[in-house]
Amino acid sequence: MNKYLYDIHNHILPGVDDGSDSMQLTMRLIKTEYESGVRNIMFTPHYFPRSSTIKNEEVSENIAEAFRNVCEVCKKEYPDIRLGLGNELFYRTKIIEELKCGRANTMGNTEYVLTEFDTDIKYSDMKKAIQDYIFAGYKPILAHVERFACLYKEYDNMDLLREMGVLFQMNGENFIDGMFSLNKKYCKGLVRDGYIDFISTDTHNDTTRKPNLAEAVEYLYKKIDGEFLDRILYENPEMLFKKID
Ligand SMILES: [Fe+2]
Repeated sequence: MNKYLYDIHNHILPGVDDGSDSMQLTMRLIKTEYESGVRNIMFTPHYFPRSSTIKNEEVSENIAEAFRNVCEVCKKEYPDIRLGLGNELFYRTKIIEELKCGRANTMGNTEYVLTEFDTDIKYSDMKKAIQDYIFAGYKPILAHVERFACLYKEYDNMDLLREMGVLFQMNGENFIDGMFSLNKKYCKGLVRDGYIDFISTDTHNDTTRKPNLAEAVEYLYKKIDGEFLDRILYENPEMLFKKID
């Protein structure tokens, strides 16, 4: 098995969202990822026009161009890193259209899509949106599942989404702050009880939201069965790279 880590949710691409604002920062973030043992990165910039004067076409083109540029630099500096392109999609009804016409990206050209909502969204609205994705033929991955009020300790709600086929992604930052926190305990419980399918950095910069996978993984291997964790850290994310060389 490829024992190198995967980061399937991050804002590393330069100049396309509220993440990295320069190629220099992007390369520093990739270096940190590399030193953490990451060799597979799926870039997931927000798909969201940052001003009303920017059209969706432009957002999409800017992201594609930033991806090409980063791939070119990485090929020379880190030839053993695999790179893929996706988006973090803030759900709105139009998003299905954007996916269908190819402006918004699925994860590495697969049928999986990374999606997010307002953290205080009603459960019924989240469920409707998820159905929307599924009816259109996509497989939703819910970004940072630990943030949503309608799912917090609401295991029945989570179970129902899982039955619908939703996969859950959690941020690594939950496992690095402080020696003890109730949130850390709750998040560890979700991993241990089999609710979590992916753990990723959601990194935006190298100060307040830096790549943190090495620390998170070290903590989890101390607390949770290794074979079980292997599935989350290696086998599940590999599904998203199946169309990438
Ligand atoms: Fe994100």
